[in-house]
Amino acid sequence: MSHPLRIAIAGLGTVGAGIVRMMATHGTTMAMRAGRPLEITAVSARSRGKDRGVDLSAFAWEDDPVALARRDDVDLVIEVMGGEDGPAKALTEAALAAGKHVVTANKAMLAHHGQALATLAEKNDAMLRYEAAVAGGIPVMKALTEGLAANGITRVMGVLNGTCNYILTQMEEHGYDYESVLSAAQEKGYAEADPSFDVGGIDAAHKLALLAATAFGTRVDFDGVQTEGIEQISLADILMARDLGYRIKLLGVAQMTSEGLEQRMQPCLVPAQSALGGLQSVTNMVVIEGDFVGQTVFQGPGAGEGPTASAILGDVIDIARGLRVPAFGIPADRLTAPNRSADGAAAAYYLRLTLDDTPGALATVAGALAAEGISIDQMRQSEPDENGALVLIVTHETGRAALDRALNVITQSPVSLKAPVALRIENV
Ligand SMILES: NC(=O)c1ccc[n+]([C@@H]2O[C@H](COP(=O)([O-])OP(=O)(O)OC[C@H]3O[C@@H](n4cnc5c(N)ncnc54)[C@H](OP(=O)(O)O)[C@@H]3O)[C@@H](O)[C@H]2O)c1
Repeated sequence: MSHPLRIAIAGLGTVGAGIVRMMATHGTTMAMRAGRPLEITAVSARSRGKDRGVDLSAFAWEDDPVALARRDDVDLVIEVMGGEDGPAKALTEAALAAGKHVVTANKAMLAHHGQALATLAEKNDAMLRYEAAVAGGIPVMKALTEGLAANGITRVMGVLNGTCNYILTQMEEHGYDYESVLSAAQEKGYAEADPSFDVGGIDAAHKLALLAATAFGTRVDFDGVQTEGIEQISLADILMARDLGYRIKLLGVAQMTSEGLEQRMQPCLVPAQSALGGLQSVTNMVVIEGDFVGQTVFQGPGAGEGPTASAILGDVIDIARGLRVPAFGIPADRLTAPNRSADGAAAAYYLRLTLDDTPGALATVAGALAAEGISIDQMRQSEPDENGALVLIVTHETGRAALDRALNVITQSPVSLKAPVALRIENV
């Protein structure tokens, strides 16, 4: 066997400790698959004395992650500290500048600095890989950059945040409202104490931006992702969706339209019978459509110690074998700046309106929609109470800009008691 690949690990939390554990379990098999030994030489974290449940005694310790990246006995750095800037970025830059490969799980850092880091990697003949940053244990970046690389990619969709999918499926299964499921999820450790990155769609939008760049050969454009969270989803929406044969998912969609790149991370209605509609609990799913291959579906665990370590070490084995793939599938200087598609493809929408229980309220709504050429497919109205009447509408296909204009008119009118909720019905 040839010389070992010497690895440093920055961050020894859930993922870092999982990597040490997985290498201790499968080191021999991994070395055979890589064609050379894989050897951890040095590690770094904030507190040296912490018990992490793994034996670190054979590895050198560095307090400073940047010093870790510069060590002479390191060929590849695994960055699992997290954080969009700060030490994670400093360490990544130091490693790449020194011509060392970097494998990271840090979607926030890549969504904001992916272009610059990919450029730096290529300049220094180093690899930057991040399978674990997108859909955890599912090897979807590998699918895009290798197995499906001969295709023109037409659309990428994904349920990319397990916390959101858990909340939405629990609401439907048990008939609980959003707030009570969120606090139960926090108690069980499925949701962070500050859940805004998850339920606000930002975590999933980071991942979608990386998928879109790789799928369409565009610069990572996180700011171009239209992002909405699941905070406004009510039990009434979920039950209405179910009655109509749909489920509500926080769905990421990236596609190239005639207007430009459309990137959306929004709660959508998807057919209950579809693969995405059937997805339960914390599981992730990515759907990639290519012009020659058709539709491919990838499903699996999107987070957790084992799945994330699995994705990281898959990347490490690839690098040890000598595989060389640019971070976003094509050289960084060939990635194009995307035009953003403002309106996106036309779609039917589900609307939830809270209206004053007065004669003519429905006529106001119907008039505002008709003025924008939007016709109603289905409508239901609940018994009015002191909070007004809940009116649930499914429209025929329309553009989003026209719908927003109509909703604006409705919101300004005296019959509307609360801001309307509009959810796209996605044709999956
Ligand atoms: N957990 C998952 O399921 C998962 C899934 C996919 C991707 N990721 C990504 O993987 C990364 C790590 O996640 P995690 O869940 O393992 O996080 P974590 O449990 O919070 O661990 C973070 C580790 O980084 C160390 N660290 C933080 N700041 C540091 C600094 N300034 N200098 C040195 N070390 C520092 C911490 O040290 P101490 O232990 O000494 O405090 C800790 O060991 C994040 O980018 C995350 O988004 C995680």
